[in-house]
Amino acid sequence: MSRVLFVCLGNICRSPAAEGIFLKMLKDANLLGRITVDSAGTGGWHVGDPPDGRMIDHALKRGYDLSQLEARQFVREDFLRFDYILTMDNSNFENVLRLDPAGQYRSRVHKMVDFCRVHDVKEVPDPYHRQADGFEHVLDILEDGCEQLLEKIKAELK
Ligand code: 4NP
Repeated sequence: MSRVLFVCLGNICRSPAAEGIFLKMLKDANLLGRITVDSAGTGGWHVGDPPDGRMIDHALKRGYDLSQLEARQFVREDFLRFDYILTMDNSNFENVLRLDPAGQYRSRVHKMVDFCRVHDVKEVPDPYHRQADGFEHVLDILEDGCEQLLEKIKAELK
């Protein structure tokens, strides 16, 4: 069993999109019983909210259903509950690491973009104040990263 958590700031745009993409990949690969996925935000402003309607619409056009997801905040216990913690931008990365001052769980925390093969980017940019192309760009990066992440975890399960 491997447990994956995607983390962004609000848990209403990037990390729920990553969760929806990865969940569909797990379903398609018949791996739902062996790999679990969740998402969270480092901030608490949107706790209990569904994903941003724009992200729901853009994701649905690619076959990812985010409509049932609900935002929650990242908590310290998540270091214990997850094997892979994937952060979207450098600020999320630092905010998560700050909650583990002793560095006990450092090896579980990764930057999502480090799993990308096609997209040479430093961060998954926050699309909140962007137009439609910003949301599409986020989905492109996330699909790329999720593919390689799944390959890595699949290889470890064997
Ligand atoms: P996310 O985008 O981190 O990808 O969910 C954001 C959504 C809302 C806010 C920030 C980022 N906000 O500050 O409300």
